[in-house]
Amino acid sequence: MTDLQTTFAGLKLKNPIIISSSGLTNTAAKNEKLEAAGAGAIVLKSLFEEQITLEADRLRNPSYYPEGSDYLEEYIRNHALSEYLDLIKESKKVCTIPVIASINCYTDSEWIDFAKQIEQAGADALEINILALQTSLQYTYGTFEQRHIDILSHIKKTIHIPVIMKLGDNLTNPIALIDQLYANGAAAVVLFNRCYQPDIDIEKLEQISGNVFSHADDLSTPLRWIGIASSLVDKIDYAASGGIHKPEAVIKALLAGASAVEMCSVIYQNTNSFISESNHFLESWMQRQGFKNIPQFKGKLKAKDAEGINMWERTQFLKYFSNKA
Ligand SMILES: Cc1cc2nc3c(=O)[nH]c(=O)nc-3n(C[C@H](O)[C@H](O)[C@H](O)COP(=O)(O)O)c2cc1C
Repeated sequence: MTDLQTTFAGLKLKNPIIISSSGLTNTAAKNEKLEAAGAGAIVLKSLFEEQITLEADRLRNPSYYPEGSDYLEEYIRNHALSEYLDLIKESKKVCTIPVIASINCYTDSEWIDFAKQIEQAGADALEINILALQTSLQYTYGTFEQRHIDILSHIKKTIHIPVIMKLGDNLTNPIALIDQLYANGAAAVVLFNRCYQPDIDIEKLEQISGNVFSHADDLSTPLRWIGIASSLVDKIDYAASGGIHKPEAVIKALLAGASAVEMCSVIYQNTNSFISESNHFLESWMQRQGFKNIPQFKGKLKAKDAEGINMWERTQFLKYFSNKA
């Protein structure tokens, strides 16, 4: 018997396929179908810190609502949250797989108190997604990383369910940060989130949106960093996110050291059927290779000598170009 079970962030998953936070997971009905299609867990669409605070800030401007802005501010806060709590409760009613809530945030502030209600609504874990560009001329190196730690520490004081940190790929040294996140109680990290991609229309001379969806080649970045990180910070769980477009990619992520993968673009593009296709592919590959369970091969190709020279840390193409010359 081939066993596809894995443990991620302390949660037992029947297989390593997690559906990423996105519009794919914003209703209980969709989540029920994702489970029926074979998903091991789902991450709900994020509740954005801005959803609570920006709308509330707008209402702070008395010229919009000369009267009652305090009341409206409170109303909007509670409304955004209560819809989200309903999504958790409804999804838990129809899903037996873990339901992970998600918050997109960038400040360590009062919104964190809402995490308690997310836990009470029945979420099995909370994924925190801190995706922001640092562009200030006054920026002091390290403050963005410290903010991750501050937000995590604050959340850990607020809730008891596992906390998963979903990182952006714009960090100078993700390894040092992951080590600190582990020390401050994170159960897992997801490498990486995907930023909005800007582009330019040269005929209209306008800024436009680039590709919303990722590409199979994007997988190299999570593979590299999971390969290095899982070798150096080996007590925390990893999920690969970004560029899982082929069933083979799931196996690559596990070999690099991930416990699970999060997939999004491929489901938008290929429908839920990609989930069972990936699970079947994984199962038959394991049988072909003689692996009975995932721990037998998880991390087999992580950087064994991450302090020294290894392929995951290679940045230059020198050899490639010299061979071609
Ligand atoms: C349409 C769309 C909506 C998304 N919404 C969220 C979100 O609400 N929260 C979040 O953490 N990530 C969000 N993401 C990012 C995905 O969860 C995922 O991390 C990213 O797309 C990379 O994975 P992929 O290559 O499998 O698409 C979204 C992505 C897409 C394409």
